[in-house]
Amino acid sequence: MLMKKGFDDLPYPKISNAIFGNMAQLRKEKINFFIQQKKVLGNIYRIKVPTRKVVVITSPEWIKYVLVDNNKNYTKSFAYDSIRLFLGNGLLTSEGDFWKRQRRLAQPAFHKEKLHLMFHNMVEQTNKCIQRLEKYADSGALFNLSDELYKLTLDIVNSTLFYNEIESTTGSIYQLVSKGSEFITQRIDNPFQLPNWVPTPHNWREKKILHSMDDVFFSIIDRRRKNKEHHEDLLSMLMEAKDEETGEGMSNKQLRDEILTIFVAGHETTQIALGWTFYLLSKNPDKLNQLNNELDAQANDSITSPSDIRGLTYLKQVIDESMRCYPPAWVMGRRTIEKDNIEGYEIPPYTNVVMPIYVVHHDESIWENPYEFEPERFAPDKLKDKHKYAYFPFGGGPRLCIGNNFAIQEMQVVLAMILQRFRVEIDSQFIPELDPLVTLRPKYPIYAKVWKRK
Ligand code: HEM
Repeated sequence: MLMKKGFDDLPYPKISNAIFGNMAQLRKEKINFFIQQKKVLGNIYRIKVPTRKVVVITSPEWIKYVLVDNNKNYTKSFAYDSIRLFLGNGLLTSEGDFWKRQRRLAQPAFHKEKLHLMFHNMVEQTNKCIQRLEKYADSGALFNLSDELYKLTLDIVNSTLFYNEIESTTGSIYQLVSKGSEFITQRIDNPFQLPNWVPTPHNWREKKILHSMDDVFFSIIDRRRKNKEHHEDLLSMLMEAKDEETGEGMSNKQLRDEILTIFVAGHETTQIALGWTFYLLSKNPDKLNQLNNELDAQANDSITSPSDIRGLTYLKQVIDESMRCYPPAWVMGRRTIEKDNIEGYEIPPYTNVVMPIYVVHHDESIWENPYEFEPERFAPDKLKDKHKYAYFPFGGGPRLCIGNNFAIQEMQVVLAMILQRFRVEIDSQFIPELDPLVTLRPKYPIYAKVWKRK
């Protein structure tokens, strides 16, 4: 008779400490830990960490099973408990019927027609960025490209979804979001961290950041309420939404959680993706050449409407390949509600299922030369034999990223416009080391020089 396999039968990495299990390795090696363990243990294994049950899966079939086929048996994993401390109960972290309702309310802001309306804002903000870059052009001077892209993606979210309400505070928001990200990662890494109500110096610093965030976002909501303004943006849409049954609008706290979530989720990921794309193109001049040929042949001298980017197929392949190489959200997690069966193992309730996107995107059995930048692999005929979840930078199932088309359009506009205008040369001293916090940031800022093309 075939023995049923349980959670304890799952292989696990060698442990160096009886109490802390794999925790030290995990913290130290981060992505490399997952890459190594896949080689040693295969597509499913558990990790020994105190106070949590954790399984890692890396096969596209089973990732689809968790995200799509049996998604009703899953909530988000422990990592989102830490994110919730910072972002509150917004779209990214809420669950169940409440999430469903909020998603229904926010979804129309991302419909195709709305994205078309946002197009000219994206172009306008990119033009402003190009003007800022002009002062470095042909001088051979290095400038901080990461910072410029940060400002640009922030300006785009701000002008398209929040009618420029956040403008005057962008500098301080950068610091706040960065610090917040670090706090979240520390909590994810450390199951022994004391709850946030215990008055430790660390918790005190965390609270201070949160209060500053609240100041920024509550004041935006206050201003809008006082002015009684209506704009065709996400903020107005959320503020004017009424509960179908009670007729009540969203509380200020709920609005703060939703707009902070969209704001944070909506710019850092895209900024990171753009930075890595410029880096990859600079490292691969033949691919850059091919892209430039496409841009020169197809786009008019200026990009003015969605139809100007629609035909740029190689550009889209470059973007897809860049997010395969450096998925801005490098890992996702879910938690079982009832017990489940994954790859023949019985997984108990309340088990965290970790899906390291980065590892799947670099799986040699799926992708040939996975560490090479080859946009050609995203040509439509090449993708036919690939599993849908061999590539999933935006997640999948009902919780698929709400901003996926927004992000793609934004990257198309920014890359097409900047590359038409400049040759972007990444600093030869740049070391592409990863700093995988919540997102896959480069460890060091990316510096660049720009040279005018025309
Ligand atoms: C390259 C850019 C982006 C990447 C790689 C990315 C990636 C992701 C991923 C992987 C998820 C799923 C998380 C999970 O299921 O656990 C997600 C969710 C989400 N993203 Fe994005 N994202 C990007 C851009 C954006 C933008 C531009 C916005 C908004 C303007 C946005 C807003 C959100 C929100 C609100 C969710 C939660 C959706 C829900 O659960 O209903 N993202 N994103």
